Amino acid sequence: MEKQKYTITAALPYANGPLHLGHVAGVYLPADVFVRFLRHKGHDVAFISGSDEHGAAITLRAKKEAITPQEIVDKYHSILADSFKKFDISFDIFHRTTTDIHKETAQDFFKKLNDNDKFTQQRSEQYFDEEYQQFLADRYITGECPKCGYAEAYGDQCEKCGSALSPNELINPVSKLSGKSPVMKETSHWFLPMERHEQWLKEWIQEGTLDGVQQHDASQWRKQVLGQCMSWIDGGLKPRAMTRDLDWGIPVPVEGADGKVLYVWLDAPIGYISATKQWAQDNNKNWKDYWTGDRKLVHFIGKDNIVFHAIIFPILLKEHGEFILPDNVPASEFLNLEGDKFSTSRNWAVWLHEYLERYPDKVDELKYTLTAIAPESRDSEFTWNEFQSRVNNELADVLGNFVNRALVLNDKYYDGEVPARQELTDHDQEIIKQLAETPQLVEELLYKYKIREAQGVVMGLARLGNKYLAETEPWKLVKTDPERVKTILNIAIQITGSLSILLDPFIPGTAKKLRDFLNVETVDWSKAGHIDFIPSGVKANKPTILFQKIDDAFVENEQALLQATKTEEMTAEPEKEAVQFEEFMKMDLRVGQILEAKKVEKADKLLELKIDTGLDQRTIVSGIAQHYSPEDIVGTKVTVLMNLPPRKIRGVVSQGMILMAEDQEGVLSFMVPDKDLRAGSEIR
Ligand code: 2FM
Ligand code: ZN
Repeated sequence: MEKQKYTITAALPYANGPLHLGHVAGVYLPADVFVRFLRHKGHDVAFISGSDEHGAAITLRAKKEAITPQEIVDKYHSILADSFKKFDISFDIFHRTTTDIHKETAQDFFKKLNDNDKFTQQRSEQYFDEEYQQFLADRYITGECPKCGYAEAYGDQCEKCGSALSPNELINPVSKLSGKSPVMKETSHWFLPMERHEQWLKEWIQEGTLDGVQQHDASQWRKQVLGQCMSWIDGGLKPRAMTRDLDWGIPVPVEGADGKVLYVWLDAPIGYISATKQWAQDNNKNWKDYWTGDRKLVHFIGKDNIVFHAIIFPILLKEHGEFILPDNVPASEFLNLEGDKFSTSRNWAVWLHEYLERYPDKVDELKYTLTAIAPESRDSEFTWNEFQSRVNNELADVLGNFVNRALVLNDKYYDGEVPARQELTDHDQEIIKQLAETPQLVEELLYKYKIREAQGVVMGLARLGNKYLAETEPWKLVKTDPERVKTILNIAIQITGSLSILLDPFIPGTAKKLRDFLNVETVDWSKAGHIDFIPSGVKANKPTILFQKIDDAFVENEQALLQATKTEEMTAEPEKEAVQFEEFMKMDLRVGQILEAKKVEKADKLLELKIDTGLDQRTIVSGIAQHYSPEDIVGTKVTVLMNLPPRKIRGVVSQGMILMAEDQEGVLSFMVPDKDLRAGSEIR
């Protein structure tokens, strides 16, 4: 295989929250496996990522946590970087988009395109929040999805049905700042006229050619990626604004653009370039080598990022003129969790940093499971039961058991010195053949981004070894045919040696342990599959247990934790039928003050209240005894509905009603005026 050059990127995560297992399984882990493999094959690789620190995702989070956007990105960048490090994701650099080098890179990029008339400037109407005096970025607007009716769709996308939207398609839009409906207001922006690019994009995506010249192998692109791209293009590309009216982001580097920043989806992918620059600077390399010439650019992303990486960024790169276009965009589908979608707002997630805190020594168990269920071609699901069975039945019972048997027997019979093979049976020959064929199979799959299947093939080799020992039973043969046992254990050790190489991209910690058992110093990929990789006479060590089994208590504990920490989204009751204003005005609502309160005998829910209504002092019976004790509420100002006909309740005449608010959990609350109004004040 010819040595290739690769620049591999993994989507810059927004620095507005931690990572959950869905992000890991879909983007970072497959990218890391691929990169580790490429490095072992001797390719020249740069593995680039970083925090995406601009955009409305950040400012909204800042508002929620009541701190500045800078404080938000500082906080989450360090959480992200720390989790990647502990999870052993082997980025060459994990950069940030709030750095000067990025700002300069993004501004230069924009300027170059602008100077060469690659943008159009257009006046357009955009939603504006009058209370906050701010134009609303897409993510600042929610409303009903026109496609599926989901009530909380964002201005750029519906998370329920996945449709890409624009803010003015939303039904009943609401500003996330004030909670009010926004108005339309005119503003001026720089647009990328995407419609100019339909022709070449079509050819490039479907054939992999540009002006008839082959660029990449289009047949290697995932079906869903091709499908999404073609449905965008066939739907007709429209101009897309590349600037925003926002106070957080990279200022538009053009005169007369005060208060405007670069659109985050222009800024973020340029982050791959600026990160490469920083890394090159730190390592005495020339960054341009990584973005030009004969080199494969590969973007690992989730499916919600396809249009940005396979259409918009390629347009920008091509218009800029100096850069290569992506060779592939292996996008993942989504991972679900225990029967439901991952959801940050409902806290339905397993957070990577929390997992690593609880199980710092179970990194490979998680890597293995997530690759085994990776949502490569369709959505898939993580459950703790699945985790348990992958660890117990595959890692422990197959891989762990095989390696342990091979090395324990080798230690016991030969004091660790690997025996030489003797005469081979057909069975042995077959095993050796399969061992020899495995590396190529793994490589072919990995080059096709079939990472999940590739791991399955490597695990198949462990399974083969395990079965070989179970069938040949060297522990029984040792009494009757010691020569045969030497052959069997030699072969078992060769399989272990190959596993110590082939497993390295997937579960590097475990692969390292295997190499340590065998005193193998480095990963020499070309040795995998070789029957004389570990020469006879070499001393191997006594093994330690590779994987602890996961017991049921572990699973129950994790499941309970998920349930206990999930939060309910407030699902409001549907609105009632319209009432006429005149009808409403017939109600006599006033502020009242509780003068006395006592329990109603033999009624555990009722309190008998004496209320000063400003007009009179009257008795009202209220069903709040389980929420308030009488002595606590004397003096409280409440809302009274005066003109209900008197009613006898448990022998007490009640004249009116106290209005209460009730939430989903059934918590009751008085409606108390927020100023000290006198009893009798009218409410309308
Ligand atoms: O969807 C996201 O999380 C984005 N922050 C991904 C950006 S990828 C790239 F363009 F930087
Ligand atoms: Zn929808």
